[in-house]
Amino acid sequence: RTRRVTAPQITDRKGGEPIVCLTAYDAPTAEIIDPHCDLILVGDSVGMVVHGLPSTVGVTMDMMIMHGQAVMRGSRTAMVVVDLPFGSYEGRPETAFASASRVMMETGCQAVKIESGSYAAETIDYLVERGIPVMSHVGLRPQSMHVLGGFRARGRTQKVADEILQNAEAAAKAGSFAVVVEGVSAEIAERVTKAVDIPTIGIGASQNCDGQILVTPDMLGLFPRVPKFVHKYGQQRDQIDAAVRQYAEDVKARAFPKPENLYVFKD
Ligand code: KIV
Ligand code: NA
Repeated sequence: RTRRVTAPQITDRKGGEPIVCLTAYDAPTAEIIDPHCDLILVGDSVGMVVHGLPSTVGVTMDMMIMHGQAVMRGSRTAMVVVDLPFGSYEGRPETAFASASRVMMETGCQAVKIESGSYAAETIDYLVERGIPVMSHVGLRPQSMHVLGGFRARGRTQKVADEILQNAEAAAKAGSFAVVVEGVSAEIAERVTKAVDIPTIGIGASQNCDGQILVTPDMLGLFPRVPKFVHKYGQQRDQIDAAVRQYAEDVKARAFPKPENLYVFKD
């Protein structure tokens, strides 16, 4: 049994070698990415990229727990963080603690992530004080898409930039071990990274962060359309399409199963 990366080890990486993070939702993907990642996030993006939901708002605690368990089984050394889903933590800190402790106890993950508006500081302090490391998430907060009017980059105007900076500073002061910064300009990413003493993990937030994260199916090329900030490192959609096309052809031509795929009668 090897030891996993810990929350304090992630925090210690502030200003050092960039922190490598990706999302995972299942055991085999977790197993493949684990040796390359410092931190694996079981994101509520699972609702969109696995379950076909229109946003992350419909994701449930049961979904996060089931995917969290799978990722824990598949990974060995990376720190595993599970997103708290919409509706499970924004109210009273006691409610957030009930949700977060359930996620940690049932999955074995090491921390939770919450989207941090101005309301979040009290909750972060409450959770950390009671043994739950918290990663915060500022900038574009997908769970607030109905208030924001969609998934658009944030932090390109002064007013929004100040709000993002305040949320990040409050989240850091309240004890978050790291903060995800999503969908902001390079200037804002730099301001936030300089303002807080915890690592900033960017997604669509330039190189001015202490680490990076992407939604794994996006960077593997599983979808035809991805946000501008994603670089497609793979062509999974094309590979799956070509493989399945060949399989369909082989089945129709009786070219599959091949001789090596057959069980032989031994009697
Ligand atoms: O849900 C998710 O995958 C996330 C990351 C993109 C940061 O929150
Ligand atoms: Na998320």
